[in-house]
Amino acid sequence: MLNFLRNTKDEVNFQNVKNGAEIPLILAPMAGLTHVAFRQLVAELGGCSVFYTEMLNSRKVANRSIKDDIYLKKGAIDTPLVAQLVGNDPPTMVKAALLLKEQGFNGIDINMGCSKKAITRHGWGAALLSMPRLAFDLVREVRKAVSGLLSVKLRSMESHHRRKLIEFCKGLEENGADLIILHPRSPRDGFKRPAVWHEIKDVSEALDIPVVGNGDIASPEDILRMKQETGCLGVMIGRAAMVRPWIFQEAVMGRKWQGNIMDIIERAAFLYRYYLPKPAQTRRFIDFGNWITRNWTFHHYLTKGLSRLQTIAECLDFLRQGLGDGANSMVKRPFVGKL
Ligand SMILES: Cc1cc2nc3c(=O)[nH]c(=O)nc-3n(C[C@H](O)[C@H](O)[C@H](O)COP(=O)(O)O)c2cc1C
Repeated sequence: MLNFLRNTKDEVNFQNVKNGAEIPLILAPMAGLTHVAFRQLVAELGGCSVFYTEMLNSRKVANRSIKDDIYLKKGAIDTPLVAQLVGNDPPTMVKAALLLKEQGFNGIDINMGCSKKAITRHGWGAALLSMPRLAFDLVREVRKAVSGLLSVKLRSMESHHRRKLIEFCKGLEENGADLIILHPRSPRDGFKRPAVWHEIKDVSEALDIPVVGNGDIASPEDILRMKQETGCLGVMIGRAAMVRPWIFQEAVMGRKWQGNIMDIIERAAFLYRYYLPKPAQTRRFIDFGNWITRNWTFHHYLTKGLSRLQTIAECLDFLRQGLGDGANSMVKRPFVGKL
């Protein structure tokens, strides 16, 4: 059975688990998906050790009134919550980080992993992997400005260059990062290529600060396997948490989740209406539906149907009809082997 770390309400502390039996389990940042409503759903299903926001544009955070911003909303129990910033201008990142800490976020993460053109063309995200000096400056300046957890989430180097990856991570550590989260795919690797877990091991062995592994976790068994194979301190889960938001609960309880999937979908509908601004509700709920329906064999039919609908109420009717009373019995795979 997996014993997972439960952080206190507003503190993120990985130090005390360095050699312990607990495994911190972390919800990955996913743009458009891991907003307040989804995080609240995961929290209600038993939660995880730490939540991450989707990436936040440092310029927008630093320059705009952030009071009512959808991206900055926090739920009732999605804590501790780390805000992920994307950007590369040290003063802007510092200003944004300070504002976020003031808003009560429990830690700051710097995104050095996103390989989308829209991000890298500004020199942000994974573009920082080839600008180590700037990357280290960012970490150093943000570290000087804010207390509490400062993590960096990154991916592997171009061509999976091992030495460069280790040197880069050591530089992040020397400049004040508390935690490294590695998704071991290079900027060119798509999701079709498997994550190269042994790079997580390489980095874990080379650093003194904790390393969290990320990539291709589809089941509680995978969590233990990643921990054993790589020696990582904790495990971050992305897509599998969208498909089965109860994956953290299953990992902790050591048994298959017994709930009714349609209840979860209905609860999500309530939370999406409650937390998200009206114009965003249906689009985000359809995105949620697209992921959760991967539990079913006829997922493509459901996705296509959902894409045509205009309201959450229509989506719910469609899913209720599509799944019928035996929604749970129709689940194709208790754990998606391939995401
Ligand atoms: C739709 C989507 C959006 C994502 N957005 C972000 C993001 O905002 N910030 C980030 O660091 N990673 C982002 N990622 C990457 C995930 O955090 C994670 O590293 C990746 O999905 C691998 O983990 P997994 O195999 O558990 O899904 C995103 C991934 C997906 C699928």
